Amino acid sequence: MVGSGLDGVVAADTELSEVDGTHGRLLVRGHWLESLVEHSDFEGVCHLLLYGDLPSAGEKAALRERLGAARARAFQRLPHLGAALHAADGMDALRGAVAQLQSIGKDREDAIGLIGALPVFAAAWHRYRDASAPIAPDALAGPAADYLRMLTGAAPNAAAARALDTYWCTVAEHGMNASTFAARVVASTGSDTVSAVAAALGALKGPLHGGAPGPVLDMLGRIGTPENAHDFLAAELAAGRRIMGMGHRVYRVRDPRAAMLEGAILRLSSDVGSELGRKLALARAVEQEAASLLAAKRPERALKANVEFFTAVLLDAVGIPRELFSATFAAARVVGWCAHVEEQRRTGRLIRPQSRYVGKRPVERDARGPVPHGS
Ligand SMILES: CC(C)(COP(=O)(O)OP(=O)(O)OC[C@H]1O[C@@H](n2cnc3c(N)ncnc32)[C@H](O)[C@@H]1OP(=O)(O)O)[C@@H](O)C(=O)NCCC(=O)NCCS
Repeated sequence: MVGSGLDGVVAADTELSEVDGTHGRLLVRGHWLESLVEHSDFEGVCHLLLYGDLPSAGEKAALRERLGAARARAFQRLPHLGAALHAADGMDALRGAVAQLQSIGKDREDAIGLIGALPVFAAAWHRYRDASAPIAPDALAGPAADYLRMLTGAAPNAAAARALDTYWCTVAEHGMNASTFAARVVASTGSDTVSAVAAALGALKGPLHGGAPGPVLDMLGRIGTPENAHDFLAAELAAGRRIMGMGHRVYRVRDPRAAMLEGAILRLSSDVGSELGRKLALARAVEQEAASLLAAKRPERALKANVEFFTAVLLDAVGIPRELFSATFAAARVVGWCAHVEEQRRTGRLIRPQSRYVGKRPVERDARGPVPHGS
């Protein structure tokens, strides 16, 4: 009998990524994450995941064009999405909007449509919430810069766009995480990519998965200064609460993506001044204190910072409102979901585990078997 969280269960062979939880390394289609973050960008990672290799300049330009056209199509759909983009929660809005898309029956085409649509829907949700009109995408712009522009209408700061692009590269794909598994289960039934992504969005919303960065930002705000970290965190643990942004199912060392994001924040802080430097110093102090309190509380279980910890600082720094954190994560992870859907489809195998019944049974009166109902 496997553990209730399927810990350690290998549910698929994949060529998409390897999460090395012992050494804290992430391999994406043959490339170390560090190398992708340094030498490529989000469009490059999209190409790598969907088409199998890093793009040439021409392939990248073609992908930019296709994604730009997909954003433009998604924008045209906005007036037809009814109440979906007026939901109270950003992830509910994305799920509701995606649920109204029609699959065109080709995984790759659906993937491009969804990768284009998610940032458009997320930005529109934010604009409606602010009682402002959505801003049309610029089909020629890079995805991160265009997302930032669709949120405010202002030309994005190049350093902020680069930091967001680094974040999207970092989180586009990550093994058999809960939302990817959800997408693969749906794909395994023969259903379409749009349905798989709608299910994955539901899984990503949860605070144990993609819903953590908002609470991390709240926590940092409540702690305020490094001197308060110890007392705040100790009280949280004493009350039986989890420290958001800490711990991981697979990593037994610090999540390697935390370092990627920390680097991006550092680069950004030299552009936007010392306030961000102060926030980064606070985050580092809180991380250190949390890691040491958790080590004392659970010496047998390494609980270190995960990707969500520095996600909160980075997204806040580039001007993403807290309520959009999970939706902004989804706008990158959708690439991984779509790549997994295609891979799952190739296996042709239904994912259908079993459950062990532990409920009540009818009383057996004699050897002739169960007493029939009504007797
Ligand atoms: C990510 C997470 C869900 C992985 O958890 P998991 O592999 O299922 O581990 P478990 O939930 O079995 O936790 C093992 C033990 O460590 C504790 N633990 C795990 N993460 C913890 C955290 N962040 N703070 C405090 N305690 C934690 C659990 O309470 C549990 O203790 P128990 O056995 O006494 O109940 C978990 O670490 C967590 O909830 N982290 C906070 C939320 C978060 O940052 N999510 C984003 C993930 S990328």
